[in-house]
Amino acid sequence: MENTLKIPFLNNKQIEKTFHNPEEDISDLHTPDHVAIIMDGNGRWAGNRGMPRVAGHKEGVSTVVKIVKIAVKCKVKVLTLYTFSTENWKRPKSEVDSILRLPKEFLSIYLPELIANNVRIEAIGDMEDLPTHTREAVQYAIDRTKVNDGLQLNIALNYGSRHEILKAMKKMFTDLNDEKLSLDDLDEQHFSKYLYTTGLKDPDLLIRTGGEKRLSNFLLWQLAYTEFWFTDVLWPDFSETEFLHALKEYGQRKRRYGGI
Ligand code: IPE
Ligand code: IPE
Ligand code: MG
Repeated sequence: MENTLKIPFLNNKQIEKTFHNPEEDISDLHTPDHVAIIMDGNGRWAGNRGMPRVAGHKEGVSTVVKIVKIAVKCKVKVLTLYTFSTENWKRPKSEVDSILRLPKEFLSIYLPELIANNVRIEAIGDMEDLPTHTREAVQYAIDRTKVNDGLQLNIALNYGSRHEILKAMKKMFTDLNDEKLSLDDLDEQHFSKYLYTTGLKDPDLLIRTGGEKRLSNFLLWQLAYTEFWFTDVLWPDFSETEFLHALKEYGQRKRRYGGI
């Protein structure tokens, strides 16, 4: 496994770019515990430059590295990244194949640095339907980082919220049938345990790049009281500055949860 992960992917210029980490002012931040991001706009970014869509996805990997680092610096506890949705299978096979090679290529380069930063990797989504190389690379990273107690980096891969809820309901009905669960015990907390995000605090802040203002089947249950922050900036252009801007705005929001 270790050998197959050693495949250089980003060119030197791209790697250099990701290591450029500007000194941003992170004092007085009211940091959200859990930030979820819909990383959208890779295809348009490439299209605007006359490049194939896959070039946008590769550039998007550089942004992932930058944002993970700034999230570590800001002491975010959980960062959930929407990487591939259950609906993204509708794309041309060549694009799907390229996207699903990215986790392995990303980890082959950055896993040591993630480990050095005490990052723990987790995944949410239906791993079974993913190509073996994707699944193995992610599982290897999960195993190698499970002792870390810094930022939890949650990779949403082949994730779809409706699928997640249905799967949870099927398991719940089985448990009801098997009398492992009684109807009286079933409340919101209990139901949450059947989701991929079991044990995780719901996101405090959702960021979507790329200009669309929709959830695209992302964390429908978990985002019930999350603060939303949208930007037109396309994911490959998203920077630490915008991330901090979102966090600062989050700090000014008043969360009422239906109260006054
Ligand atoms: C997001 O960028 C990445 C994935 C969905 C995998 P897109 O590929 O959706 O980029 P646009 O929205 O077409 O620009
Ligand atoms: C959402 O982006 C999925 C990911 C970012 C992985 P899409 O580009 O697939 O969403 P739609 O199709 O515009 O709703
Ligand atoms: Mg898109």
